[in-house]
Amino acid sequence: MRTLESNALLLIIGVSLQGQALRQQADRFGILVGGAVNPDKFSEAPYAAAFARELNMLEPENVMKFGLIHPAAGRYDFTAGDRIVDFAQKNGMKVRGHTLVWHSQVPSWVTNGNLSSDQLSAILHDHISTVVKHYAGQVFAWDVVNEAFSDSPPALRSTIWFDTPGIGLKGPGTQYIEQAFRWAREADSSALFFYNDYGAEVVNAKSNAIYAMAKDFKARAVPLDGIGLQMHLSLNANLARLGENIQRFTALGLQVHITEMDVAVPVNPDGTPVDPAALQKQAQIYHDVAAACLQYKGCSAIQTWGLTDKYSWIPGFSQGKNGLALPLDENYQPKPAYDGLVRAFESAPLPIQPLTGSFEVVSATLGTTLLAPDSLASVFGEGLADSTETGGVSLQVTDSSGVARVASLLYVSPRQINFLIPADTQPGLATFTLSGASALSGTGSIQTVAPSLFAANANGLGVAAGTAVRVALPTMIQSPVAVFQCGSAPGSCAAVPIDLGLDAPVYLTLFGTGIRGRSTLDAVHASIGGKPVPVLFAGAQPQFAGLDQVNVVIPLELRGSGNVDIQLELDGRVSNTVQIAVQ
Ligand code: XIL
Repeated sequence: MRTLESNALLLIIGVSLQGQALRQQADRFGILVGGAVNPDKFSEAPYAAAFARELNMLEPENVMKFGLIHPAAGRYDFTAGDRIVDFAQKNGMKVRGHTLVWHSQVPSWVTNGNLSSDQLSAILHDHISTVVKHYAGQVFAWDVVNEAFSDSPPALRSTIWFDTPGIGLKGPGTQYIEQAFRWAREADSSALFFYNDYGAEVVNAKSNAIYAMAKDFKARAVPLDGIGLQMHLSLNANLARLGENIQRFTALGLQVHITEMDVAVPVNPDGTPVDPAALQKQAQIYHDVAAACLQYKGCSAIQTWGLTDKYSWIPGFSQGKNGLALPLDENYQPKPAYDGLVRAFESAPLPIQPLTGSFEVVSATLGTTLLAPDSLASVFGEGLADSTETGGVSLQVTDSSGVARVASLLYVSPRQINFLIPADTQPGLATFTLSGASALSGTGSIQTVAPSLFAANANGLGVAAGTAVRVALPTMIQSPVAVFQCGSAPGSCAAVPIDLGLDAPVYLTLFGTGIRGRSTLDAVHASIGGKPVPVLFAGAQPQFAGLDQVNVVIPLELRGSGNVDIQLELDGRVSNTVQIAVQ
């Protein structure tokens, strides 16, 4: 199994993550990618399919707001919210609740009821308590208070809940907000509770005010778990201080969610962008926001306000001046904005968490358990890379003479790290120290060994991991020839017979280690089926650090030989054997 994983790595070199939905990208980082949703649209098949395919989180765009979920005194209506929970559960998605305390979309029975502060306090307590309890275990996080700060200068916004007349806590401070969080915690001991706002995405006066509140809340153990950055942006968004802002909130021990991202594009009356470059600019903004979030361990969700331009609040909100704000177009096709998000996921380093489980250093080459300078090896463990910590790992190899060298890492995954043992590592016992979120070390015995050839199989058959081309002379047209094929079961790779009956030479490229820099081409000998064959190239594989490559000719007289073994000899040392099949 181990060698299979290492070999599988080699065989997928160059295979990109293209074609994965956003949720698969996000899963690699253990973060959530969400969208605001309207359950009335689930009956539209492409809508439901796009949400289920792309996202691992849903948030009701409207249906859990006060006016919809609590439309009359003493009457709650959970039907629409329950449909979102149901859809999410069927599709393995989380639900983020929005929103318990907000100045907008408050029903007239509250706003026009001439209610006293005492009455409003009782109503809000009952509201938070009833809604949060109804969704306990189903809604993992809530925007408890939304948009409580006004813009410039930032101050507590005058609202029915704060001071007109408010719930009885309209002093200079943020007590009414604190009260809402305490009521929420009283109703659900495990959901995450967020403060959510717009215009506070980067470091600025408004986010400073929210930061001061958050810091105070954390210091006094007010149950605040996170900050929602709405991220309703324009094409002129200046995101230079976004990372700094995310950093300072996460440094308080808070999570940050990007909660309502969209990027409004000014449009002509016919719906086309005013600026022909608008969609590319928009893509860059989507990329930059996702990339900033992925840099910080505590930034744990990226959500857009909708998903498709077919349904977005932006055209209505801007009276038709703006539109095209979301990652999918009106026909559910990915826009450049979508590609911008994908690009951010693809280029962010995978997060790392402390190593757990075993720490073993083994040769990555099938056919030898020996560790050799300048060859590939693997560290196996658990949790080498996952959601809890961003940042890199590094591996230091201290050899028997006490010299420490940093090894190049070729591949990092949760269970395996492949690396190159530094070229000058002296024979003897070496110590391998892996440092990331924690440091761990193990030892291994370094020896000078023969070159090693990779195999496509892990079951000992040693099917050659290589590629072959048939060369049609005299024009030198090359066509690829299969050397092996793998089934779905681990270790089920088999040699594919190479047809030598076409009177055209077949060149075989084998991959391995321990070949470069050891010798001149003259010193590298290869044999197939025990017979020497011409070596055309031996050295470093140009595109992949740590990997070596040997090109040989398969002589036509091997025709009909069936399975034959290939072996290298370098300076009198022989490699393991790998097998091809010829007919
Ligand atoms: C918007 C919805 O998208 C609209 O459908 C509704 O008419 C008004 O509210 N900030 C928020 C969201 O926190 O709840 C708002 O949603 C958009 C701005």
